[in-house]
Amino acid sequence: MTSPQIRSGAAAATRPPLHDVAHLGHIELLTPKMCESLWFFVEVLGMTETCREGNSVYLRTWDDYEHHTVKLTAHETSGIRRVGLRASSQAALEARVAAIEASGLGVAWKDGDPGIGPTYLFHDPDGHELELYWETEWYAPPDELKPSLKNQAQAYPGRGVCVRRLDHVNYLAQDVPPNGDFVRDVLGGRVTEQIQLDDGTISAQWLHFTNKGYDLVYTRDWTGTRGRLHHVAFAPDTREDIIRAADICLTTGSSSRPGRTSTRSSRRSSCTYTSRAGTGSSCATRSPGWCWRRTGARSPGPRPNGPRARPGA
Ligand SMILES: [Fe+2]
Repeated sequence: MTSPQIRSGAAAATRPPLHDVAHLGHIELLTPKMCESLWFFVEVLGMTETCREGNSVYLRTWDDYEHHTVKLTAHETSGIRRVGLRASSQAALEARVAAIEASGLGVAWKDGDPGIGPTYLFHDPDGHELELYWETEWYAPPDELKPSLKNQAQAYPGRGVCVRRLDHVNYLAQDVPPNGDFVRDVLGGRVTEQIQLDDGTISAQWLHFTNKGYDLVYTRDWTGTRGRLHHVAFAPDTREDIIRAADICLTTGSSSRPGRTSTRSSRRSSCTYTSRAGTGSSCATRSPGWCWRRTGARSPGPRPNGPRARPGA
């Protein structure tokens, strides 16, 4: 799957992202408690319902320019079914699909969900399901949701946390490096930071596709299980919104706790919270924030553009 030359090459480790993947597009979450989950995403997180189809409800963060951000699907268990990545052009989509097929992890083309064009399904080495697409429908808000500002996709909902956009997905993985290599070498991303334990094991990697601190994260699953989710994260507008989110979660009975602060230059504060329906989420914002430490040395990583380490962290 992964080219040995690329994996061992310092030049590859420090190269910029290819930019064939433009950004994290949407996620599909499964829930055994649809009513409670809908209440959590709409009333607590402040998302807006776009449409319903079959057993799924499509929801959006208020400043997402696309049709939906979350597809919530009724299921006997909770979890994440799929993560959607938007390509930066039709040519970029075709180039990445060719690379995925060459890696042996491609599945097939399918019709996209509402608002999404032709979509290519594939897996990462750990078995998580992802999809890649280019064509997308710009969100057209109904009159009551039309924003006053032309650079906003939708009026500010003023309800609950008011999450503005999807920020990142943190996967658990049986073995982190093969997945980081796949995102880098096949999807064209780049590792921005990682955790290397004293025995040399890479136990977590943060990867991005463009200029965000990270879009996808792989954290080692201590149970040795494949294909699991740790959390997904949404971003509100400000750091103060994070504090307010904690209060909202406390008031509504959704558990919350302070999250880590990234070592990246974007420096995020975060608050992790869990819905009563068991759908884990967290919110993050770009601002100087709370101190965060954990055991396990961070790899110094290559310079100047490779994975970063935070002195003293
Ligand atoms: Fe996170």
